[in-house]
Amino acid sequence: MKGRNDQKFVCAACGARHATWLGRCGICGDWNTIEALRDQPAASGKAAVATVLSDVDASKVARIPTSLSEVDRAMSGGPVRGSTVVIGGEPGIGKSTLALAMAAHASRSGLRTLYVSAEESEGQLAERARRMGAASSGLDVVMTAELAAVLAVLGDYGMVVVDSIQALSDPELGGQAGSVNQIRHCAQALNVSAKESGTTAVILSHVTKDGSLAGPKVLEHLVDAVFVLEGERSDESRALRCLKNRFGKVSEVGFLRMGESGLQDEPDPGAAQLDDRLAGAAGSVMTAMRDGTRARLVEIQALVTPNPREAPKRQFLGLSSQRCNVILGLIEHFAAVKLDRFDVFMSIAGGHASDDPGLDLAIAAAIVSSALQRPMPADAAVFGELGLTGEVRKVRGEAERSAELMRHGFGRFVAPAGGDGPQGGRTSVRTLAEALQAMGLSRRH
Ligand code: TYD
Ligand code: MG
Repeated sequence: MKGRNDQKFVCAACGARHATWLGRCGICGDWNTIEALRDQPAASGKAAVATVLSDVDASKVARIPTSLSEVDRAMSGGPVRGSTVVIGGEPGIGKSTLALAMAAHASRSGLRTLYVSAEESEGQLAERARRMGAASSGLDVVMTAELAAVLAVLGDYGMVVVDSIQALSDPELGGQAGSVNQIRHCAQALNVSAKESGTTAVILSHVTKDGSLAGPKVLEHLVDAVFVLEGERSDESRALRCLKNRFGKVSEVGFLRMGESGLQDEPDPGAAQLDDRLAGAAGSVMTAMRDGTRARLVEIQALVTPNPREAPKRQFLGLSSQRCNVILGLIEHFAAVKLDRFDVFMSIAGGHASDDPGLDLAIAAAIVSSALQRPMPADAAVFGELGLTGEVRKVRGEAERSAELMRHGFGRFVAPAGGDGPQGGRTSVRTLAEALQAMGLSRRH
């Protein structure tokens, strides 16, 4: 059997190791992403110094809070001092804007901070800082794309932002900036140097939708925490999601908005969903989705349309196709709505994605509502998981979901029987058939 040492090739997209070069990664299926791994620099040979675990003071984990409470939430209070943090995201989503806000705030709170710009000119950085009101006398900037130049000054600072890891390189290693080898080498060197000097390193990393660039996946095991800034460039809402955090909660999300003067906290991400909603339309169902540890109002949309001639199309944007296909089966079986000659298109409005099982009942309601061309009452909503025997199951975060629905004026909602949380105008149901009946979506109505 081949060991890990024989696996001298790595996929830039998913980080999988391979024994031979391949045109296409057998793990993630991406093309032209395999690169040969080069030897990393030799170890220093210094002996490790051990500490008695009980002597280590866990409360000493000091954090660097940011100016945005939603960023602090996603980062469990802000980056830990001396840790290495990666912020990933698609180009243009707002990584530099976020990092500059963090750097400016850290420097204003007295931490000597350096912003390394390997992509943009001083002028571009200054223009962004002006727009955001982020100029600060304690914040230094340097334009360089060379690793050695960064390492030479890193120890002089309490916090260093590297924008971005794809643009940084070490000419001695060979290969282009942005290759897996350069990314791993630079990240490792920054991490080691930051740990030695107690500097907090914030590394920005680009990822594309198809994952074809080396991004957080390759860096994940090298660093202490990984966050991804998500959203659509055409829209102002952003979410900062935690993928890994050695010093905090993993399932946390911060809701942000990209405004005229940088990123701001988004106090009510559900409100935008209501603004754009066509109330009274068949196929539209409001629900509360679990995002991080909070609930957030979202609209589930379905379009069920006859297609008697071809094989029916199924498209589930942002939703798990496995779950949706099971729900189609449940509807056929328990609600007597035949869908085999219908195309079914589904999405979460606003381009969101979720595999929250608590969306099941809303997905089912949206499909039936569109199939029967019967809208849900405008002030009604629903949440709950569906089981294969047609039962409605309790879901996590019921109290938060109910509160979120009621806060947005959904006085009436259908939810699993026996669940907790505010009761308000709750109708408790045990089966899919009962739920559809309660929503006025039963065939017999
Ligand atoms: P940027 O932070 O440069 O993205 P990234 O570093 O992830 O590539 O920001 C990208 C977009 O954000 C850019 O198109 C302009 C916009 N933007 C605003 O809308 N408001 C602002 O205050 C700033 C600084 C940028
Ligand atoms: Mg940028």
